[in-house]
Amino acid sequence: MNFDANRPDLTVGVIGTGAMGRGIVQVAAAGGINVLMTDSRPGAAQEAHDFIEKMLSRAAEKGSMTKEDAAAAVNRIKIVDGPADMRPCHVVIEAIVENLDAKRKLLAELETIVSPECILVTNTSSLSVTTVAAKMKTPQRFAGFHFFNPVPLMRLVEVIDGLQTENWVPEALMIIGKRMTREPVRLTDAPGFLVNQVGRGFTLEAAHLAYEGVAPFADIDRVMRDVGGFRMGPFELMELTGLDVTQPASELIYNQFFQEPRYRPNLIMQSRYEAGILGRKTKKGFYDYDAQMKPIIPPEPTPPAAYPGHVWVSPAEPQGHKTLTELLVKIGAKLETGPKPSANALILVTPLGDDTTTCAVEQELDPRRTVAVDTLFPMVKRRTMMGTPLTDHVYRNAAHGLLASDGVPVTVCRDSPGFIAQRIVAMIVNIGCSIAQSRTAQPADIDKAVTLGLNYPNGPFKFGDVLGPERVYRVLGSMYRIYGDPRYRSNIWLTRRARLGVSLFTTEH
Ligand code: NAI
Repeated sequence: MNFDANRPDLTVGVIGTGAMGRGIVQVAAAGGINVLMTDSRPGAAQEAHDFIEKMLSRAAEKGSMTKEDAAAAVNRIKIVDGPADMRPCHVVIEAIVENLDAKRKLLAELETIVSPECILVTNTSSLSVTTVAAKMKTPQRFAGFHFFNPVPLMRLVEVIDGLQTENWVPEALMIIGKRMTREPVRLTDAPGFLVNQVGRGFTLEAAHLAYEGVAPFADIDRVMRDVGGFRMGPFELMELTGLDVTQPASELIYNQFFQEPRYRPNLIMQSRYEAGILGRKTKKGFYDYDAQMKPIIPPEPTPPAAYPGHVWVSPAEPQGHKTLTELLVKIGAKLETGPKPSANALILVTPLGDDTTTCAVEQELDPRRTVAVDTLFPMVKRRTMMGTPLTDHVYRNAAHGLLASDGVPVTVCRDSPGFIAQRIVAMIVNIGCSIAQSRTAQPADIDKAVTLGLNYPNGPFKFGDVLGPERVYRVLGSMYRIYGDPRYRSNIWLTRRARLGVSLFTTEH
């Protein structure tokens, strides 16, 4: 097909001018593309037009574009009566209600109106592109073009090949996406596409941790911010998005993947969703809110003024032993160097994926004196520790006091394979790997989509490489062994690269 995506007179139709459609119209017009827009609700397209005009003139006031460019962009937008007026379009984007029948009906109508070379795309966030196209006469010219909310601020757009999509369509969309000043990333159709799939690792594993009683919501958020380097904790994020969005999306992805345990939802989210406790929008969620709508965050306990006599650090994990020993020397702990701890020493272990109990039992250490410290992540802004169910409070307090003695906050969680951050990040890496293994997208594209679409400090592949593929593989392996839950089995992409000792970005020839 001879489709010229660079033509200066490119005309794009946008049907549905709600939250998404209006954003798409704005970036298309600002990118020099002519736009025809329509909405089935009377007056909706005009409201959207007024909104876009306001947004563009605000952008001009702020200096992010000239007044002339803003005026020219507004002039490129034309409201039309309905799909029948989309005949001149080279591309039509549907951004109507998220309903399969409604989308199929609209596409069938459009197929009778536009030229055979016109590309038809859906902005669906949760339906399969292949499924939406299944009843079309011309599914080969159909693809997904998935923008993020709010469109002008979120630069990522996922360009999705359905099973029957011909190559020229996504190739053209990659160019058109760039003309709209977006960062397009190409993938083949998959539940949750890229961003929504990887995002399950962050929110769902956090929910599983809270459900198990490993730590309260606020502590999990603190650890993921300070230890994992995320801008927002998983519960803070769900508060903003709302469980009315996150919970149905989670269930859908889980079921679309035939109940793949990696995406298994959790009752902690489901019960709140059922009860209408959705987050900020209902003034109650994982957090309560004050009159100014600020979340009421339970304060952290003051570290105990306790301090251990002698400390013995297990050498079972050489790297963790080295990291923790260096820190303890710096903060002036009395370290023992013998092969076994003395009778009353505080025992510290540095597991990768194991819980404290497993470490104590397998290394034949006294579980009443054993405490685990997470050394996989930098211990600069916060440290995480946990005991066995038998750890004596005197030893737990001594470990807490010691680790907090240089002023760095310490989170004390309950015994958990993989602490908090190891667990959540390992899930993110593993999901990223499963996306690459299924040939949905390339590693670099997955990372790009995740950093742009989710604002994570790293994409799954960079995260895995920074921590070390072998170490992430071991975290998952231990979790899988201890829980016996296939949710934690390592994807074969990760397994192979970890065992070969190469980067997770390594692709096959
Ligand atoms: P919205 O409810 O804000 O807007 C939908 C608009 O479509 C409404 O103005 C409605 O009047 C109009 N509409 C409904 N049926 C129509 C039809 N048959 N013909 C013409 N217009 C029709 O919804 P929103 O959030 O803009 O979502 C639109 C699409 O974008 C959905 O497929 C959604 O899944 C997807 N999406 C939404 C995101 C979000 O965060 N809101 C993010 C990415 C994709």
